[in-house]
Amino acid sequence: MRVIVESDAAAVSRRAAKFIAALVRRQPTCVLGLATGGTPQGTYQELARLHRDEGLDFSRVVSFNLDEYVGLAPTHPQSYRYFMQESFFRHVNIDARNTHVPDGRALDFEAHAQQYERQIAERGGIDLQLLGIGTDGHIAFNEPGSSLGSRTRLKMLTPETLADNARFFGSIEAVPRLAVTMGVGTILESRQCLLLAVGESKAQAIRDTVEGPVTAQVTASALQLHRDVIMVLDEPAASKLARLGYYREVEKAQAELEAAGRARG
Ligand code: F6R
Repeated sequence: MRVIVESDAAAVSRRAAKFIAALVRRQPTCVLGLATGGTPQGTYQELARLHRDEGLDFSRVVSFNLDEYVGLAPTHPQSYRYFMQESFFRHVNIDARNTHVPDGRALDFEAHAQQYERQIAERGGIDLQLLGIGTDGHIAFNEPGSSLGSRTRLKMLTPETLADNARFFGSIEAVPRLAVTMGVGTILESRQCLLLAVGESKAQAIRDTVEGPVTAQVTASALQLHRDVIMVLDEPAASKLARLGYYREVEKAQAELEAAGRARG
């Protein structure tokens, strides 16, 4: 795992956008796995800016979102489809037909989940999966206890997640109890994972994810089994890491190597 610590949330967003933009430039037909929530919002803004100011081209990019609340129509302001539309898709030139978000109103969720997995496979798999993390250590809506081999399916949200997400709905009662979500196994098949975390409320989950045992009680810890994970954290989210000094040294060496590479041309 590569652990990058930035000074604040804005720097986390810029760094994350830089990784995504580099992939889009290198591989214009890449498949992006996308996340919603508060954390990636700055990253989407920065990508929109790169599109506007530097012509970053999303016209052939394909996207798959991690999850969607059950029962919400795509036009519901708290649905993840609506969030993606407003925060990202409408600000760049991505083709709407290439964007995928699970359908929170599918009639047969099992069939829908299998079809979602098939669609990902048909597009050649996910090149880069953007992830946030819950205070309970979840990735997507894989709540504690989720199988580390799980695939896209329905999941019931924990009281912690309902409480965390109540800020978007006005009250805890208004938060849907169920979501359709990619599984941990689905996420682990992405070629690269880019996990972002900001704020002190994520510090324990980050410590458990990076330095704790691999356990279904903290589903993000399964990322330890993945060969290409980048974590971009702000200082408060990184504050409980025992080996923080070491991660900083590694990044310093990495930056020196990259600078030497550039100097050699
Ligand atoms: C969202 C998702 C969730 C969030 C997590 C953190 O698509 O899959 O796992 O990434 O709940 O949410 P925020 O960023 O709002 O703290």
